[in-house]
Amino acid sequence: MFRKKAIFILALTVLFVSIPVSSVTIATEGELLFELTEDEVDAFLANTDGHKFLRTASRDGRPVYSKDPDGGIKMGNRNADWQSLDIRDDWMERGKSYSIIVEFASTQNTLFRIMNTDSPYATLAVTGQESTSGTLAMNIAIADGQRGVRLTTPQSSLVDYTVKKILIYEGDLPADAIVQKWAMDIPSLHEAFSEFFLFGNILEPGELSNSDTIEMFLHQYNAVTAENAMKPGNVWRTKDSYDFSAADRLVDWALDNSIAIHGHTLVWHSQSAPWLTSNSSGAALTRAEARANMELFISTYAGHFAGRIGSWDVVNEAIASYGDENIRNWRGQLRVDSPWYRAYANGMDRDAGERPEDYIYDAFVFARIAAPDAVLYYNDYNEEFPHKRECIAGMVEDLNEQWKSDPRNTESDRLLIEVIGMQGHYWTGNLRVANVRDSIERFIKTGARIAITELDLPLGSYQGFAQRNDSNIERQAMLYAQLFNIFVEFSEHIDRVTVWGKADTQSWRWEGHPVLFDGDFQPKPGFWSVLDVASAAAEEDPPVSAEPPTDETPPAQTPPAQTPEVTPEPTPAPVVEPEQNTSGFPWWGIVLICTGAAAAGVLVFIIIKKNK
Ligand code: XIL
Repeated sequence: MFRKKAIFILALTVLFVSIPVSSVTIATEGELLFELTEDEVDAFLANTDGHKFLRTASRDGRPVYSKDPDGGIKMGNRNADWQSLDIRDDWMERGKSYSIIVEFASTQNTLFRIMNTDSPYATLAVTGQESTSGTLAMNIAIADGQRGVRLTTPQSSLVDYTVKKILIYEGDLPADAIVQKWAMDIPSLHEAFSEFFLFGNILEPGELSNSDTIEMFLHQYNAVTAENAMKPGNVWRTKDSYDFSAADRLVDWALDNSIAIHGHTLVWHSQSAPWLTSNSSGAALTRAEARANMELFISTYAGHFAGRIGSWDVVNEAIASYGDENIRNWRGQLRVDSPWYRAYANGMDRDAGERPEDYIYDAFVFARIAAPDAVLYYNDYNEEFPHKRECIAGMVEDLNEQWKSDPRNTESDRLLIEVIGMQGHYWTGNLRVANVRDSIERFIKTGARIAITELDLPLGSYQGFAQRNDSNIERQAMLYAQLFNIFVEFSEHIDRVTVWGKADTQSWRWEGHPVLFDGDFQPKPGFWSVLDVASAAAEEDPPVSAEPPTDETPPAQTPPAQTPEVTPEPTPAPVVEPEQNTSGFPWWGIVLICTGAAAAGVLVFIIIKKNK
């Protein structure tokens, strides 16, 4: 009897210990599907194409894959971040979710990250601090347009690195696997600025199931924009199939929680849906075809959300970003590589006054008709530069003038373009806050209102990201304060300020540590300096000078600050699936479990001995 019991306990102990420790530490509901054992490393290196779970991301012999003597697959001789190791998705079942735990190592300090294998190449998870090792854990599922997930380091850190451990499970990670905890006992940004403007941030529908993120979001923000999920390419991939369900989830959540939801975006050259503007071989549609598609797209999409979405970016980034600084007339400064521009040029009758840029006006008119209650925005970046400022203002004035006599206009005292969205993708090294102020003043003159729609301020300049150190983090905080001083000063005209990223490591420009919370989800000096602006304004203190000291002002000839370009995609951009940003998991759990397992072993040994 005793013997049987002992064998049973022993069997249980063996089972328990043979499950990799981390699977116990981050126990998922589901079965372990794959573990990167030494045999699997050998199998992968012997036949990299044939491995069921892993795939190489290589070209021209880079990276060099090898077996790390300390265990795992090593990637060497790299000169691009995509030279890496991918987890493929062809073994996954659609509609099911899986969780992965990946352990990385390098001989040099670096961040480690998990990202998309294909456009829009989003970072899905990244370690919080540079180190020679790191662990990431996240949920994955089949995402259209992706071939799996990529395990890599940043472009700015092309070190040799090793993927030491991979565990793949069926089912989601439990919430307690998430190590970074948002600072919650700190003031709320939206409350601090409540008398001035809405304070927003970005959120993807997949994040709604992350209760920590949602609790933090509701504490800090009262406006939301989807980072990617509501872009044309993500909601409507082919002419005969659209899917608004993810967007619906986000919009319903926002409405249920009294959060202002901003629709981003209807007409854009990037992350768009190719069927709108080109035929199956990629050639531009005719003007008439593209216009009919635009009307169908906007009336269906904006129409679906009419009465639920408060405002829309109707046209995004139609003015050239690096145009000739001497051109101040918007018609001479258009983004000619936009597929909308090209299609509208195809078959136009110039003599009849038709122009490629007519797509901009059409988009606003279709949006007004489809969602008459929604506030309509024109949204763009580099908006602080004098020539682009003038072009944007001129375009808004011209199109609003055109609308006045349009027979479809039934509200004579309402503008067509009601808000100018200033994206606010700046750089600490290039930003001249006085330029931002000048743009706000110029935009106010158009009669439109203003919103800061995608604010971020990475360390560095358009030439590249700078290393994080105390002094540039302080400079960033100072610049944030100067910007918010201006926003408060003009708050009568400003509806909303939205920061583009909740934490540095989650931002699309994360290499520059650009936002108000760091990779450990803690407030940065910038957070506090922004809050100080609100407190000072509430106490009616004189605002701090809006212009940095002269020695810190970049030279007047500095070329336009470049926003990392979003390359137009020939294929539809995929939805960025639920993102979980975790770095590491509780290692003390492993120690506890190992100790427990050892104790159980000793116990069994004693029982067997006693029983003999
Ligand atoms: C960015 C997202 O943040 C990234 O995740 C994605 O890979 C590319 O697009 N201007 C815009 C935003 O209007 O939609 C862009 O967002 C940033 C630039």
